[in-house]
Amino acid sequence: MNRWQIVLLLALSVAQSAQALELNAQELAGKRLYREGLSATGGEVTAWVGAADMQVPASVTPCAGCHGADGQGRPEGGVRPPALSWQRLALGQGERQVNGRRYPAYTEASLARAIEQGRDPAGQRLDPAMPRFSMALSDRCNLIAYLKRLEADRDPGLQAQTLRLGTLLPQAGELAEAAQVVAAVLDGSIQQINEQGGIHGRQVQLVTLDPGPDRASAEQALQRLLGEEQVFALVMPMAPALDETLAARLEQAQVPLVGALGQAAYSRQIFEPLPGVREQLQSVAAYAETRLSVQQGPAQIVYSEAEQAATATALQADLRRRGWGEVPVLRFDGQAPDTLALFYLGSAQAFEQVVEALQAAGRAPYLFAASSQVAGAVARLPEQWSRRVFLAYPFIPSDWSARGREALTALRAREGLDGRQALLQVGAWCSMLLLEEGLKRAGRDASRDKLVAALEGLHDVDTGLTPPLGFGPGRRRGLDGAHVVILELPGPMFYPVAPYRRLELGP
Ligand code: HEC
Repeated sequence: MNRWQIVLLLALSVAQSAQALELNAQELAGKRLYREGLSATGGEVTAWVGAADMQVPASVTPCAGCHGADGQGRPEGGVRPPALSWQRLALGQGERQVNGRRYPAYTEASLARAIEQGRDPAGQRLDPAMPRFSMALSDRCNLIAYLKRLEADRDPGLQAQTLRLGTLLPQAGELAEAAQVVAAVLDGSIQQINEQGGIHGRQVQLVTLDPGPDRASAEQALQRLLGEEQVFALVMPMAPALDETLAARLEQAQVPLVGALGQAAYSRQIFEPLPGVREQLQSVAAYAETRLSVQQGPAQIVYSEAEQAATATALQADLRRRGWGEVPVLRFDGQAPDTLALFYLGSAQAFEQVVEALQAAGRAPYLFAASSQVAGAVARLPEQWSRRVFLAYPFIPSDWSARGREALTALRAREGLDGRQALLQVGAWCSMLLLEEGLKRAGRDASRDKLVAALEGLHDVDTGLTPPLGFGPGRRRGLDGAHVVILELPGPMFYPVAPYRRLELGP
């Protein structure tokens, strides 16, 4: 590299970070207190909450929880926390008005009084929904220093001309092939968005990192995406090593994610378009309850790999709530399960072994499974299983509109994809579509908080490839449930027997 290239590179990297606000140590400490309720010195920050003055750590109810990480205010259930812009609070002359109160400009001292005693500069009591906080003097100074910068402290990844998204896709290992499919769909979708002028005039960039072979490498890659790579949001990462920690990390960093591959537990930050195995099997259960009369049992839940254990137990609780009584959960150990109806979770390979064991024992229960897990095995099942196997499908060909089919076909042609991994393709496609729609609604002046709120407000989105998708408060799956399809042999032939209907799901 010659000298000029180095100068150019430096200039480029300066330009890249020019928009991200540099906070000094005091402001950073204030930001942590604002967002997480934590003191820089490790001291106690306490909040007195509500009219009854209940005492809790501020980390349970940090400022950002109500006023938003972006300080724009996050109205909820009749409570209206105002925007905390320094401009509005303190600068300039004259009275301000908020929630029916009028008061003169805040000073640092009166701001401290609002935070600690719940009174505004005119001495009026704030609504008790605003907690009273007690903190050390140094914490208060940090917090106020940050409140002065809050408005300018934009979320990373949003620049004048570009919007940066991030993902984790492995280049080696058993997920590499699937990751390539996801990469192709994401690239194709983004290219199309950019050709049409981007989102609010910004071109979308995708930063793809390899999560590597284990948890440590995956955490490092995630850290880099959220740190130096400055991505605004994540889309469809494939890093099962992060399953247990991802939600907490995203909540802490307040980074939204769309596309979690059907598995993650509920998190405010995570939006998944397609149903997980648990929701899918509940749709099959709902069908079986009315059409197969097997609810009175005996029924069993059988899973093959340890990773499925938690989902199996959750399904057991779902079935209990649905009136199935106590349905035992068993890990498949080679023995033929003895039951009338069998919910299966696990790999296609182990599914074949379960069927073989059943056959050897002369048993033929109804088998319930998610097509995404067992599709590879059903074509090879012996004929006697005809009309005994019921599969859940998040979407079926009749969900595809002409427009949806055309768009997917064009994308496949452009990216060199065929019809394999259709579920993954549609998952990545829907993730980008929902993210694009959310970003559009969040506006040019978007923040991560606004994106989460915009995604939450999406209802009945027509993807052209699935039943209409939507989210809501406390609802983070675009589809709750699946179509139910019966297997007929020889063939195999697949007949839909119950269309997708949104389930009422428990916790
Ligand atoms: C549980 C929700 C909640 C939390 C947490 C919260 N606030 Fe508030 N805050 C409110 C509500 C609601 C109001 C509006 C009260 C009113 O108008 O009477 C408010 C008002 C304020 C005001 C007065 C604004 C004005 O225009 O008069 C300030 C300043 C403020 N909050 C700062 C903070 C800071 C700093 C924190 C964190 C240390 C914080 N708040 C935490 C809900 C909250």
